[in-house]
Amino acid sequence: MPLVPLREMIDGPAPVPAFNVIQVEHAEAIAAAAQATGASVVLQISENAVRYHGSLRPIGVAALSVAAAASVPVAVHLDHATSEDLVREAVELGFGSVMFDASALPHNENVTRTASVVLRCHEAGVGVEAELGEIGGKDGVHAPGARTDPDDAAAYVAATGVDFLAVAVGSSHAMLTRDAELDFELIARLHAAVPVPLVLHGSSGVADEHLAAAVRAGMWKINIATQLNKHFTASVRTVLGDHPTLVDPRRYLGAGRDAMSAEVARLIRVLEG
Ligand code: G3H
Ligand code: ZN
Repeated sequence: MPLVPLREMIDGPAPVPAFNVIQVEHAEAIAAAAQATGASVVLQISENAVRYHGSLRPIGVAALSVAAAASVPVAVHLDHATSEDLVREAVELGFGSVMFDASALPHNENVTRTASVVLRCHEAGVGVEAELGEIGGKDGVHAPGARTDPDDAAAYVAATGVDFLAVAVGSSHAMLTRDAELDFELIARLHAAVPVPLVLHGSSGVADEHLAAAVRAGMWKINIATQLNKHFTASVRTVLGDHPTLVDPRRYLGAGRDAMSAEVARLIRVLEG
């Protein structure tokens, strides 16, 4: 059971860690850690990563191939897409789920556009994640003060038909320190009010014990990106510093991949509690 749609993981033992893939080494590192720990994981590719590559297909096909070869369930998901064309392309490639991020739009437009993406994705059997209450840090500006109201969240899910909901509960994207303060009481109220699984974004800024507490309070999909890149880049920096004449990229990319995989396995254990 290698490549599995995210929706099929809902009934599994919670939570589901979702790690961002920028290059094929990320996908390999994450899949290796998932296999070593026996966990189900999500490989997710953001619109920003697609912009870096110039198109979705090469990195998307690589992630799908890594997932298909895995011995544990691995979902492939499009992360933070604002483009409906990109959503369509991900669906055509075989992604099992997408995040359509209309959180920066006026509320009514967010609802209308998300509902129409949900209709089209559901026709193709693809699940949709959306975001309500804009989580900071996507533009480099941290806004850990944003909050999602539980009643608004329940109404939004009813109006759009989304399968997963990203909520603002105190985290912010791309933090290098792990000192974000989550609102656990709000997470519990959102969990009680919202009929679909909740998604925590910006998890790199959250300390290990608070990630585990967020899961206990009701978070289901835990998105982690920056924390992996910290470990990858630190390892690459060490290898290049130790070997100034090194030319073969496999030596430093391989070391970065190993360091990232070890951190993924450690985070999986933290989330399993
Ligand atoms: O969608 C991806 C995540 O929210 C990752 O955020 O880089 O702060 O872990 P992060
Ligand atoms: Zn995010």
